[in-house]
Amino acid sequence: MSLISFGSRVFRSYYLHVLGRRGCSTAAFMPESAGFDGVSSRSALHEFSVSNSETFWAALARHRLSWMSPFHTVHDCDLSRGRIRWFEGGKLNVSVNCLDRHVQTCPEKVALIWEKDEPGSEVKVTYRQLLEMTCRLGNLLRRRGVKKGDCVTIYMPPCPLAVASMLACARIGAAHNVVFAGFSADSLSERIRDAQSSIVITVNQGVRGGKLTQLKKTVDTAVQSCPNVRHVFVSMRTENPVAMTERDVDMEEEMLKEDAVCEPAAMDSEDVLFMLYTSGSTGKPKGLVHTQAGYLLYAAVTHRYVFGYSDGDVFGCVADIGWITGHSYAVYGPLANGGTTVLFESTPIYPDPGRYWEMVQRLKINQFYGAPTAIRLLLKYGDQWVQKYDRSSLKTLGTVGEPINTEAWQWYYSVVGGERCPVVDTWWQTETGGICIAPRPSEPDAEIIPGMAMRPFFGIKPVLMDSKGKVLTSNDANGALCIAQPWPGMARTIHNDHERFKDTYCQQYPGYFSTGDGAHRSKDGYYQITGRLDDVINVSGHRIGTAEIEDVVNQCPEVAESAVVGYSHDIKGEGVYAFAVLKKSVEAEEGVLSKQLKDLVSQKIAKYASPDCIQFVERLPKTRSGKIMRRVLRKIVEGDTSGLGDLSTVDDPAVIQEIIQSHDKHF
Ligand code: PRX
Repeated sequence: MSLISFGSRVFRSYYLHVLGRRGCSTAAFMPESAGFDGVSSRSALHEFSVSNSETFWAALARHRLSWMSPFHTVHDCDLSRGRIRWFEGGKLNVSVNCLDRHVQTCPEKVALIWEKDEPGSEVKVTYRQLLEMTCRLGNLLRRRGVKKGDCVTIYMPPCPLAVASMLACARIGAAHNVVFAGFSADSLSERIRDAQSSIVITVNQGVRGGKLTQLKKTVDTAVQSCPNVRHVFVSMRTENPVAMTERDVDMEEEMLKEDAVCEPAAMDSEDVLFMLYTSGSTGKPKGLVHTQAGYLLYAAVTHRYVFGYSDGDVFGCVADIGWITGHSYAVYGPLANGGTTVLFESTPIYPDPGRYWEMVQRLKINQFYGAPTAIRLLLKYGDQWVQKYDRSSLKTLGTVGEPINTEAWQWYYSVVGGERCPVVDTWWQTETGGICIAPRPSEPDAEIIPGMAMRPFFGIKPVLMDSKGKVLTSNDANGALCIAQPWPGMARTIHNDHERFKDTYCQQYPGYFSTGDGAHRSKDGYYQITGRLDDVINVSGHRIGTAEIEDVVNQCPEVAESAVVGYSHDIKGEGVYAFAVLKKSVEAEEGVLSKQLKDLVSQKIAKYASPDCIQFVERLPKTRSGKIMRRVLRKIVEGDTSGLGDLSTVDDPAVIQEIIQSHDKHF
């Protein structure tokens, strides 16, 4: 029999449950709004939510969350100083909100459906079971010395024990730092050190697309340079043994020895819930910090209203838990709402390109939430892979992470959704904690324009800035996308670097939260995201700083300097293109060196960051003050050499011609 936890030791007796048992109350559309004067439509509710944000969020916080003691101040924020506080004075526990309160009303409801790599081998975990796993793990963490305020690093693929690990941290008041299990040992070790974790939780091996990955071995390598790590908790995803040392803890065996009840810590609203590293414009990833009440509330309400989630629905977010999408919409949002959520371990094309839709049919998924890159990939395989399966359970289709082109949107809407399901193109970021702009909620039949995120969520007031930092007030405008007032789900700081937080998000347009994205506001006032305005690129929906890749390429002894840019890529959205200048004395075969550099980036960062193309050049185009002109390089790669833009600051225009010629010759 398959197991909730890995291996074959724990929770064998738990497989007596009822799928999707009803009986939990179904709330009408935002019942709190009954107390809001003059609010009779959803657009009026949006208007109310931004003009009366205290009343709005206080009502939701009281209604949607269970508090140990009530908050006394709804918010105390000053964006220009990077000070963001919500629901101060309140105490609560996030794991109680995600588990205990549902166990009280519907203990046998399925909380998690673990869609394992092999189709048809899914494992269902009820709220009662998940609470017990969480408690045992919470007690184990406490026994191994984890205290309130510590940070535990989790390096696991999506699975019930990963969710239990996140919730166990929340239960005992520790923060978690989930690192995507595709990151290399170097990236992992950097994140463990920065987060000052003394405990790392992992699995013996990962299984994805029919292949095994040696996650425990990667952790072993990573912790060699992390002297603070006292223990590595290892759970068994496969039956294959791994070498264990004194430092390692057999997690499932030790969990069995622990009590199944664990006292939840009373947390202040603004205590840290988790940090999550993401890329910025510099080489160093930043650990964005999210706190308890505001984050959870925002994840819960966006989950319910953007997707139209109702009690009894099965929510299928296929993002990995290592990204913010996995945090907010595979874990916290659905669980706070007492929902049933899918944890997807596989890939869209394993064992064949029908995987998603076969899963939709088998699990009767009602809301499907994925990335445009996967839609573009599947579209190429043809409609038959979709049409083979019954998708009548689907009610809403969502996308996230990158712009969705019209062709992919239409295919998703027509072929996958049979023109029945609204497609919600959701715009948000690790920093925003939850969805900020999306076509829904809106009046039930309100139009949705392909490829447009459209409407701000409740409490979100987007503005566009012109190049001089003035707010653009008219429609049909393009500008830098900012958000004019704080909302509960936004990140509070960058771990150990509040100055960087203020510089990056709060000071570019003082008083506004600056997103780093550009956007267009249509004549009708709808928003469309046009892409990053900084040196961050988006490869298959994964964010990576060009500087991070350059740092690695520059570590190669043959390379003098490099410049990395993104370019349009059919499937990935953006591909990675690297220019490298070799040291004078180097006589290397370019093909060999190119492979070496690609491998180096995979090994030092992650596979997705590895350059698709490397062009060796004599020199890079620079300004007279010595800055590399990446904007020009990007145009060259995209073949747009007639629109190179303002070249008045270029130090030596001949360099640009050299690069264009060598690009045309080779690519
Ligand atoms: O550029 C935007 C793009 O992804 C960035 C955020 O990346 P990350 O923090 O990794 O979070 C991804 C998942 C929320 C944004 O700054 N992005 C996200 N959603 C969209 C998008 N670009 C266009 N359309 C979207 N719907």
